[in-house]
Amino acid sequence: MPKRIFSGAQPTGNLHIGNYLGALRNWVALQQEYESLYCVVNLHAVTVPQDPKALAAKTLEVARVYLAAGIDPKVSTIFVQSDVPEHAELAWILNCVVRISELERMTQFKDKARKQRENVLAGLLTYPALMAADILLYQTDLVPVGHDQKQHLEITRDIAERFNRDFGETFRVPDAFIPKVGAKIMALDDASKKMSKSDENINGSITLVDDADTIRRKFKRAVTDSGTEIRFDEARPAITNMLSIFHLLTGKEPSEVEAHFEGKGYAQLKSELADVTIEFLRPFQERMRAISDEELGRILSDGRDKAREIARATMREVKERMGIVGA
Ligand code: AMP
Ligand code: TRP
Repeated sequence: MPKRIFSGAQPTGNLHIGNYLGALRNWVALQQEYESLYCVVNLHAVTVPQDPKALAAKTLEVARVYLAAGIDPKVSTIFVQSDVPEHAELAWILNCVVRISELERMTQFKDKARKQRENVLAGLLTYPALMAADILLYQTDLVPVGHDQKQHLEITRDIAERFNRDFGETFRVPDAFIPKVGAKIMALDDASKKMSKSDENINGSITLVDDADTIRRKFKRAVTDSGTEIRFDEARPAITNMLSIFHLLTGKEPSEVEAHFEGKGYAQLKSELADVTIEFLRPFQERMRAISDEELGRILSDGRDKAREIARATMREVKERMGIVGA
């Protein structure tokens, strides 16, 4: 069997360059080597309240982003999570494999639950069981994600191993693929927190749909560190974050990037970073606009059919192993 990749992003808010540099960029790079499935995980999105109209629109927009980023529908399978009902079905079963204590330990749950304060939905707690279902349904080998998903990958492996032990070898146990640089792009307004879609301060992130003026303004306002030197240095997280973005978008080696900025000031760094980002996003946004609704619809329905075939086969085996039978 070919080695398989599965990954996804939630259709909540606008995807940003952190999502691109931490995840999508690697999805594109790996798709030729692996059989790849890339999913818009709309069932994960509803673990916190969403506006129905906005959710529907964002679901299609995120699929467009995948295509604009360079995911080739002739090579990879692109689909919407809710189009393959086996995700929800397997999630239920895995909810009966995972323990509450394991779920309560998840840092993403703790963070998001704290933000919701009251009325935390049960789905927010069991989110990792749905994520494990996404991955395990396809007998996935590799899951390219940003650093924030590391713990979710660990629990997915634990769930798979426990199921295999209790019911017999059924699931492949997946590995995470987390890039060395770019796995945690920090917010522009505060280099101690990650760039996030759900941040109230829109100046913290560069979204993939920002126009040139917005990009310039956001970089201009970005926080810097004390001192004047422009080099990669853990003790200077804001400058290191900007240099990492520059390095990833230009493909220039870190040493080259440092040499390039030697003797230059922060204002110059910000202005060149804005230029590079604008030049990267211009063709990206053109590609997003060039995809017709019909084409997108066709790609997603083909993707659904391909994904469903694999998902059905896994589900059949899972039920058989657990003794879940009916008429
Ligand atoms: P999400 O937007 O939470 O659905 O995330 C989609 C993908 O982007 C996941 O693989 C995340 O780990 C990744 N990601 C999210 N935020 C960042 C960030 N600030 N830096 C790098 N990767 C990120
Ligand atoms: N939880 C992931 C995030 O917020 C999204 C996701 C859902 C995912 N299912 C997945 C990522 C399966 C990789 C594999 O970023």
